[in-house]
Amino acid sequence: MTARTFVIIKPDAVAAGHVGDILTRYEQAGLRIVTMDMRTITPEFAERHYAEHVGRDYYPALSEFMTSGPLVAVVLEGEDVIARVRALHGATDPTKADPGTIRADYAESTRHNAVHASDSPESAASEIALWYPDL
Ligand code: CDP
Ligand code: MG
Repeated sequence: MTARTFVIIKPDAVAAGHVGDILTRYEQAGLRIVTMDMRTITPEFAERHYAEHVGRDYYPALSEFMTSGPLVAVVLEGEDVIARVRALHGATDPTKADPGTIRADYAESTRHNAVHASDSPESAASEIALWYPDL
């Protein structure tokens, strides 16, 4: 079934010049870019996006990272897109990410790990509504 998911090319990957390669991987997988833009988010917005992580020991550092510079916010569409994008990204911890995944290639650490993707239909819907309320 065709669905949508929400992706972030995180500030580390933008700074390192990997935007074009990462977008190409989605397109070569047959996924369609519905909309995208570059933004620098505030700590308040980061708390809304990562609400389930607020209060964790790593959250202050995660917030600092996600607000440190421009990121690219993307809505993708395709068959089974939520699971397929998570597979293209690889594991959160890049030392556990499969070879050839975006995180295996570009993540420096479990925090600075290049990309975000929604993990369920519910999170995709709420993240798309948060980032693109007019979509
Ligand atoms: O991004 P993903 O869904 O794979 O992982 P998560 O467990 O939902 O964590 C969200 C994000 O928090 C990660 O992608 C990391 O950037 C960050 N994180 C961190 O900074 N330190 C941790 N120990 C775990 C996650
Ligand atoms: Mg997650």
